[in-house]
Amino acid sequence: MTDTTANTPNSAAARPEGAIAVYGAYGHTGRFVVAELHRRGRPVVLVGRDEAKLREFGRRYPDSPVRVASVDDPESLDRAFVDVGAVINCAGPFLETTLPVADAAIRAGAHYLDVAAEQASAITLFDTYTDRAKDAGLVVAPAMAFYGGLGDLLVTAALGDWTSADEITLAFGLDSWLPTEGTRLTGASNAGQHLVFTGGRLVPFSYSQEVSAWEFAPPLGKQQVNEFSTADQVTIPRHVRTPEVRAVMNVAALDDVRSADTPAPTPADDSGRSAQTFVVEAIVRNGGQERRAVAGGRDIYAITAPIVVEAAERILTGRYTTTGTVAAGETFDATSFLTALTPDHLTRLEI
Ligand SMILES: NC(=O)c1ccc[n+]([C@@H]2O[C@H](COP(=O)([O-])OP(=O)(O)OC[C@H]3O[C@@H](n4cnc5c(N)ncnc54)[C@H](OP(=O)(O)O)[C@@H]3O)[C@@H](O)[C@H]2O)c1
Repeated sequence: MTDTTANTPNSAAARPEGAIAVYGAYGHTGRFVVAELHRRGRPVVLVGRDEAKLREFGRRYPDSPVRVASVDDPESLDRAFVDVGAVINCAGPFLETTLPVADAAIRAGAHYLDVAAEQASAITLFDTYTDRAKDAGLVVAPAMAFYGGLGDLLVTAALGDWTSADEITLAFGLDSWLPTEGTRLTGASNAGQHLVFTGGRLVPFSYSQEVSAWEFAPPLGKQQVNEFSTADQVTIPRHVRTPEVRAVMNVAALDDVRSADTPAPTPADDSGRSAQTFVVEAIVRNGGQERRAVAGGRDIYAITAPIVVEAAERILTGRYTTTGTVAAGETFDATSFLTALTPDHLTRLEI
């Protein structure tokens, strides 16, 4: 069901065939996002702060306008987003870019999506942008990515007709985690700001070295896991009644990303995807009953592109239920969304 408030004059819904601007277009994740939009035939505006990098990258997409814009210069963002239907922000660390880019998107009457892993930027958008976005008939969709989006969709699909859960667990299993420069910068800028959702609220995450065993779906199999803090602990409680959203990740992947010696990912095929594989398992419990959903695929950066692009396409074509700041499972049909990612992007999906 489409929220009719989206069809206000000057809103992006009034121009559903509009282009999508990608901010941070030439970054590692931005490149996957631009490629996915291009693959789908959606007009793209390439936006970023570094003119030389942007023009060099733009040579691959001669039909796409190139617009230089800085978060320190709101007018440059206004010029960049002037005629677009949606903005996808891929420029992280997001603590620096989320608010100026979201503000400019709303000023332009464009929907806003980002791929932030930082919980703080998503919290700010949920807490302070919902009414503004609703008034403008727009969707603001933070963390529409591997972290924050995929787990949220899996939990929503696993819940089925349950509207609440006694406990939600997400288990992330990666065969390795080779971090990009953006991940390292984000980790540094976000240090000390990690939260977990327990007892019905977000509380500071106390890192513990305590490990437990988790039997992941093949090929990962049995792994030692550690408690983990993720954007899903912000998105899920926004639309699912539950006191507990627990997340764990295998220790081998956590060790990779924490080590200064771990190299950046390298392409393993023509699409630029690395050979990294992932499995994400969502387990929801009520009383003695348990339901689960599992997804698997390759490259957590690459999979972020079809997630955020599928979200943007659904918004621009009216396949969402609510305006304002939203989580993926809150505004999209989770099962249909996840199924749309198979088999090209999710090679495993069990709901
Ligand atoms: N939630 C998830 O699952 C998920 C998935 C993928 C990525 N991410 C996040 O996405 C972000 C980017 O990751 P990445 O791997 O694509 O990194 P990357 O390759 O380093 O790209 C970062 C991009 O952001 C731009 N940028 C950084 N700070 C900026 C600022 N203050 N103003 C304007 N542009 C800025 C960079 O431009 P310059 O080259 O000019 O600095 C570059 O284009 C990270 O925060 C990462 O955590 C999250």
